[in-house]
Amino acid sequence: MKISVMGTGYVGLVSGVCLADKGHDLICVDIDADKVAMINRGEPPIYEKGLEELLKRNVGSRLTASTDLATAVHNTEVSLISVGTPFNGEEIDLTYIEQVARQIGEVLKSKDAYHLVVVKSTVVPGTTDDVVLPILEKASGKKAGRDFGVGMNPEFLREGEAVGDFMDPDRIVMGGMDERSVATLGEVYAVFDGVDKVGTNNKTAEMVKYTANSLLATMISFSNEVANLCTAIGDIDVTEVMSGVHLDKRLSPILDDGSRIKPSFNTYLEAGCGFGGSCFPKDVKALIAHGARHGSPMRILDSAIAVNRDQPRRMVELIRQHYPDLKGLKVAVLGLAFKPGTDDMRESPALPIVTDLVAAGARVTAYDPIARHEAEKMLGTKGIKYCDSVEESIDGVDAIALVTRWPEFQGLPKLLEGREPAPLLVDGRRMLDKGSVSRYEGIGLRGVHA
Ligand code: UGA
Repeated sequence: MKISVMGTGYVGLVSGVCLADKGHDLICVDIDADKVAMINRGEPPIYEKGLEELLKRNVGSRLTASTDLATAVHNTEVSLISVGTPFNGEEIDLTYIEQVARQIGEVLKSKDAYHLVVVKSTVVPGTTDDVVLPILEKASGKKAGRDFGVGMNPEFLREGEAVGDFMDPDRIVMGGMDERSVATLGEVYAVFDGVDKVGTNNKTAEMVKYTANSLLATMISFSNEVANLCTAIGDIDVTEVMSGVHLDKRLSPILDDGSRIKPSFNTYLEAGCGFGGSCFPKDVKALIAHGARHGSPMRILDSAIAVNRDQPRRMVELIRQHYPDLKGLKVAVLGLAFKPGTDDMRESPALPIVTDLVAAGARVTAYDPIARHEAEKMLGTKGIKYCDSVEESIDGVDAIALVTRWPEFQGLPKLLEGREPAPLLVDGRRMLDKGSVSRYEGIGLRGVHA
């Protein structure tokens, strides 16, 4: 099929490149001419594992990039809208979606053939039918359902794993205003043989996306609240508690040979210093606000956000238990990105942790394998020395705060072996064995001896 994608951010570009690799003809549209030129040269403007290889394989043949939205709509059968929907604290900002919908509508005015317009950006339930569809009708002077179709197709891509998640999806949700819209989306995804597909209406498709992210975020906050109670009671290790919980057959089913399936879902049921990123915080807050507008308060989600807001500070409290006065204390912060495998700092727990440490007068040495540049932009350099290696960052420090689960931090016990005086290690991800270093603290552990 001939498909255009509006917006070449991480969702749009990954979707476009992967759909091209699956055999469709793609035009990726963006207003940023520099980005378009890069894509046409086979250089992805963002880093995602495997993306460059796939782009290079398809650019110039099945995929081209362009700033010309009108020609792209004229020459394709389906347009996917994947522009940003920033959250402004009260609601998601639909300015970009509305602009693109208007532009597509203008083009549909002079297009005779049926065209399907699909919202791929994350939008709160009702947006596609109540905002996008009327704009398309007004701008085109045509009737949705008769002259063109409108669909909603949320993405479930994890940053850093986006290409793999797109090419090997767990499900594909295809919303549509009518049967024809869903069926046309079905043609787009027919190349994904054997994948579970949900054909539904637009509002349900929108709701699936928010519910999926809200569930995962709630699981994290639930585990963190349990961890905090373990800390308050003392002599309980939350990791043992959660391991015991995970052994429920419903969370880790037992196979005929006696072995267990360990669903990766369970990693969201582990305690830590909180979730971040561009999706969980924003999506959960947007759903809370949407619930309030509909007179249906989202009390569990309110709490999920409240627990998460306070969770990073637990790291600083753990340091304070050993060093009540942080002034002049040397603290290494290991990991700045919101999760491993990315340089994304948005809503990273490292932000409040570093900010609080610096405000209390600590001397911070920070290290992240790839997020240094982003971190400098967001945190500045006052009171923070950015280091090029774990070794450099932990040299001579009093305490270490482990914030991001980068695999290389597994080597910390070895690096700290025999070091006198031994620094305090505060494990914000519970990734190291509590007996592996001489002075260990972790989330959800008070009073437990190694
Ligand atoms: C998340 C969802 O996992 C994707 O399914 C979804 O498509 C995406 O949002 C989106 O809406 O675009 P992502 O934000 O890339 O993907 O990251 P995750 O790997 O899910 O991690 C989110 C946050 O949860 C991170 O801060 C991470 O550190 C934290 N997390 C993750 C945990 O605390 N524990 C875990 O086991 C996993």
